[in-house]
Amino acid sequence: MEPVEGVRSQSGWRTLPAKETVVSSSSPTPTITPPPVSIAAITHDQRSSIDRYKRAIQKQIVDAVGSSKLKTPNPETQRSEIRSLIVKQIAQDPPPAPVAEHERIAREILDDILGLGPLEPLFADPAISDILVNGPHEVYVERRGVLELTDVQFRDDDHVVQVIRRIVERINRRVDESSPMVDARLPDGSRVNAIIPPLSLRGPAISIRRFGNKARTLEDLIRLHMLTPEIANYLRAAVKSRLNVVISGGTGSGKTTLLNALSHSIPDTERIVTIEDSAELKLQQRHVLPLEARPANIEGRGAITVRDLVRNALRMRPDRIVIGECRGSEALDMLQAMNTGHNGSLTTLHANTPRDVLARLETMVLMAGYDLPVRVIRQQIASAVNVIVQTNRLIGGSRRVTSVAEITGMEQDVICMQEIFNYQQTGVSPTGAITGFFQSTGVRTNYSEQMNTAGCHLETDQFAQRVLHRDY
Ligand SMILES: Nc1ncnc2c1ncn2[C@@H]1O[C@H](COP(=O)(O)OP(=O)(O)OP(=O)(O)O)[C@@H](O)[C@H]1O
Ligand SMILES: [Mg+2]
Repeated sequence: MEPVEGVRSQSGWRTLPAKETVVSSSSPTPTITPPPVSIAAITHDQRSSIDRYKRAIQKQIVDAVGSSKLKTPNPETQRSEIRSLIVKQIAQDPPPAPVAEHERIAREILDDILGLGPLEPLFADPAISDILVNGPHEVYVERRGVLELTDVQFRDDDHVVQVIRRIVERINRRVDESSPMVDARLPDGSRVNAIIPPLSLRGPAISIRRFGNKARTLEDLIRLHMLTPEIANYLRAAVKSRLNVVISGGTGSGKTTLLNALSHSIPDTERIVTIEDSAELKLQQRHVLPLEARPANIEGRGAITVRDLVRNALRMRPDRIVIGECRGSEALDMLQAMNTGHNGSLTTLHANTPRDVLARLETMVLMAGYDLPVRVIRQQIASAVNVIVQTNRLIGGSRRVTSVAEITGMEQDVICMQEIFNYQQTGVSPTGAITGFFQSTGVRTNYSEQMNTAGCHLETDQFAQRVLHRDY
């Protein structure tokens, strides 16, 4: 997302720093800066008339510039030209508000024309990881794992829909009654889902998952106590020795973040094909070919699924296939790829426990319409998947790797697993932080030979049963 000109606050326009207001008519681009003013001083009636004023100015500007021009990518020059037009218009025809408010009003009009309207200021805060709009009058953000209600407000449902339209127009999609749910991506890579009434009962809803510019490394995740150095060493060895790893967890539990961090252990000499629904991965290696699925167009045609891409990837001579998220019909293709020489594949999947991963994979294969005996599917799973890493988002927003399990084979119809590490939560401290500990379970890895061959020698005592780290 391009930064919007002018002053931006961390939590929204209501907390803008106060400055003196100056309107310079001699300068070609007049600048306006506001003195201290309390938003609380503005009444509801004034707010309505300011809203009407903003819409009128917005319409004049859009008519003057031509809407076709506004659909082009927004270069800085276009932004500053439009901003100058707004500022001039405001100088000629002042809004029904104190002069101190003019700068803010100008910026809000600019955000409505070119940006994401009232959400724009939230993008200036790098600590915000999620932005959640529950209808026009309730906007939450997640900062450092904790959800907070903001004072950001949209005018009404239409205002929210207008922002959704701006987001989805860029990818040639639309949102309306016939297509009321849509996934999209912002230019900065943030992932967006929008859903409108009648499906969303609280008004149009937008959920944005932001991605920081810098991918987190395993060291970063150790510092965040998502895992311990011992678990990280084991996972590095698993990736280097080309085991197939599935990262499992609930929504927002840190699966993709961990997948990104683990991918750093893939040697630079390998050719990696990544496959995603919406590209989030940031692989650092030299030889990466990212593929992204495509939703159907407005006429409902032309969809390319993750499954299509997995099949295509097999013809691209990959050393490894990384599938951002395994959700459905691609499961069998993925398992077959893992079983046919594309070892070292990585993926994420929504499941609550490692055992649940097996059930989910089985269901995905069955739901995709394959008429295979359950035993055959289980054999495919047991021979394809080597390691399952379970992530969890705990109370207070902290993330933990709560289990690392290996698949060891099958006994009759049952897939056998052994847990190598786990996290035991013991409670919650008076300050709301979780208490618990990571431990090695005392079970040695089944893959030590493979790991040794890959040059990753893990000492036997790494696996002795002990507490690795305690959260107090
Ligand atoms: N260890 C961590 N500590 C704090 N925040 C984290 C941690 N890991 C990830 N996050 C943050 O949590 C959010 C969700 O992370 P991520 O996208 O990796 O989750 P996910 O499990 O892949 O989610 P989804 O199910 O939606 O795909 C991101 O904003 C990310 O920055
Ligand atoms: Mg994810």
